Amino acid sequence: MYNITLIPGDGIGPEVIFAAKKVIEASGVAINWDVQEAGGGVIEKYGTPLPQHVLDSIKKNKVALKGPITTPVGTGFRSVNVELRKQLNLYANLRPAKTYKGIASRYDNVDLIIVRENTEDLYAGIEHMIGEDAAESIKIITRKATERIARYAFEHARKEGRKKVTAVHKANIMKCTDGLFLNVVRRVAEEYPDIQFEDRIVDAMCMNLVISPEKYDVLVLPNLYGDIVSDLCAGLVGGLGIAPGANIGEDGAVFEAIHGSAPDIAGQNIANPTATLLSGVMMLRYLGEMAAADRIEKAVMKVIAEGKYITRDLGGSMGTSEYADAIIAAFE
Ligand code: NAI
Repeated sequence: MYNITLIPGDGIGPEVIFAAKKVIEASGVAINWDVQEAGGGVIEKYGTPLPQHVLDSIKKNKVALKGPITTPVGTGFRSVNVELRKQLNLYANLRPAKTYKGIASRYDNVDLIIVRENTEDLYAGIEHMIGEDAAESIKIITRKATERIARYAFEHARKEGRKKVTAVHKANIMKCTDGLFLNVVRRVAEEYPDIQFEDRIVDAMCMNLVISPEKYDVLVLPNLYGDIVSDLCAGLVGGLGIAPGANIGEDGAVFEAIHGSAPDIAGQNIANPTATLLSGVMMLRYLGEMAAADRIEKAVMKVIAEGKYITRDLGGSMGTSEYADAIIAAFE
């Protein structure tokens, strides 16, 4: 029996989380879910969108499955998602992008993994106004965090039998910060002669990904480029509805889809829970539950390939909960 923290989040969060939970439970793994609320909805009760007991629950259980949490734009509280990754030192953000048969996309051969540094860069949140008409944000890149994410990327590449790591940067312009990032990744790459290494400037990388994504395998990026490029890669394989993610630290992990709380479709039972479910599959593999993970992933592939029970974003008309039931019915 595993103890796992479950954060439903807001917007479409509760819908996709409970659909994923139902499928994970049906796969045969025994889980005791420790349900924790966070986000704008708990501020009145606890005085903060990220109460200490939520962090304590994840620290105790070491593993969490999380729904998206809305962040107010421009003003209001800081992102709970970013804060949680910082507080728990979840330094590696893993975001696979893979083509599934049956999904309408211009590409049929994408299979890459984004390894995004999750704790620093412009996400350090150090920014301030200078008078009324100027604002400054500080971009932090350290040797320590870069070495850690670079090593994680190469180790992960090795573990998954991947052939190549591409470092993505803008070191031609940001010679100090991105220059340091690139130099450190280059040095770490020397320790992995079995894995091919190359680097790309982020703007050219975006174009290359759109023209020939099949050329790429594992990408390692600082925080901001990692965030942007992972949405681009989600778009290559069929959209945010199917793009999973994991935030991994030395002492725990939080699994969550790339997408946000999608307020435009919340509460209508039309959100696609696949991204959250596949984040759950990553969680099961992290726990060593390979058979259950394979079972769910195969059922997802089967249902999507058949195309009868898919959600609206993929061109179908099934609801979130009906889709989850179809996955369970497709279990081998
Ligand atoms: P979003 O990812 O919520 O939505 C972008 C578009 O994709 C929308 O049209 C939405 O309907 C669609 N979409 C997203 N997930 C979908 C799904 N599962 N099925 C079908 N369609 C889906 O991005 P947006 O609108 O920029 O952000 C909304 C809120 O979410 C913001 O407050 C943002 O800060 C927050 N957010 C939270 C994240 C997290 O909790 N990890 C990550 C990203 C954004």
